[in-house]
Amino acid sequence: MEATAITPGTESLAATPPSTEEIRSQFPILAREQGGKPLAYLDNGATSQKPLAVIEALDHYWRAQNANVHRGVYRLSEEATELYERARGIVAARMGAHRREVVFVRNATEALNLVAYSWGRQHVGEGDRILLTEMEHHSNLVPWYQLAIEKGAELDWVPIDEDGRLDLDAYASLLERRPKLVGVAHISNVLGTINPIRRITRMAHDAGALVAVDGAQAGPKLPLDMARIGGGSAPSTGAVSCSRRCRRSSAADR
Ligand SMILES: Cc1ncc(COP(=O)(O)O)c(C=O)c1O
Repeated sequence: MEATAITPGTESLAATPPSTEEIRSQFPILAREQGGKPLAYLDNGATSQKPLAVIEALDHYWRAQNANVHRGVYRLSEEATELYERARGIVAARMGAHRREVVFVRNATEALNLVAYSWGRQHVGEGDRILLTEMEHHSNLVPWYQLAIEKGAELDWVPIDEDGRLDLDAYASLLERRPKLVGVAHISNVLGTINPIRRITRMAHDAGALVAVDGAQAGPKLPLDMARIGGGSAPSTGAVSCSRRCRRSSAADR
């Protein structure tokens, strides 16, 4: 039987949790087989697969609504602008953020570069410290590294313990050096570690630092609540294109 797209915002999913088969049926690509077995796709941090609702909405947009967003004073452009802004509202509601806090960019790398070269260039100066972790993806490392070279700032690194977790005692000590910014991945792409992001941001804020949370891995996998996480920026690959309908309850301090 052909699957029907579930429209974002439909609350029936919350009432009756969907079965694995129902979820899989929303992703046409998962009908593919590889080596005689159903496709198992694990690279959602880099590119999330698209459910029917996204595929159909995009198809309809290209066929019937495509026009200049925010830059045209004719009907089609105004319609495209309204759709674009409606999407911003949906993303904001799902992330526990205000719509004015949602900025659409191409990917997590672009978002992190944007923060480093806008906020960073203005607020980080000679002798200032930036605190990163040893589990950062290049996307949350290179922009800060470049900024540090440009401004004469210093980088510090939170170490990882034998279990692949951040050493939070070392983190507390490094915060005593009063960094301007803490850059941290919510979920490590190498280790799979889910960092206690709320605790990490709270500690940073108490030490007077802002936090850039790399949400590339967490965006497609965890329910996110920006107010609770408290990060200054949480770029998330696929946050726009892949709905977060498949919510799961999270542990108290994930
Ligand atoms: C933790 C993490 N950060 C950043 C990125 C880069 O994401 P993007 O391709 O959206 O720039 C990835 C990609 O896999 C990632 O896993």
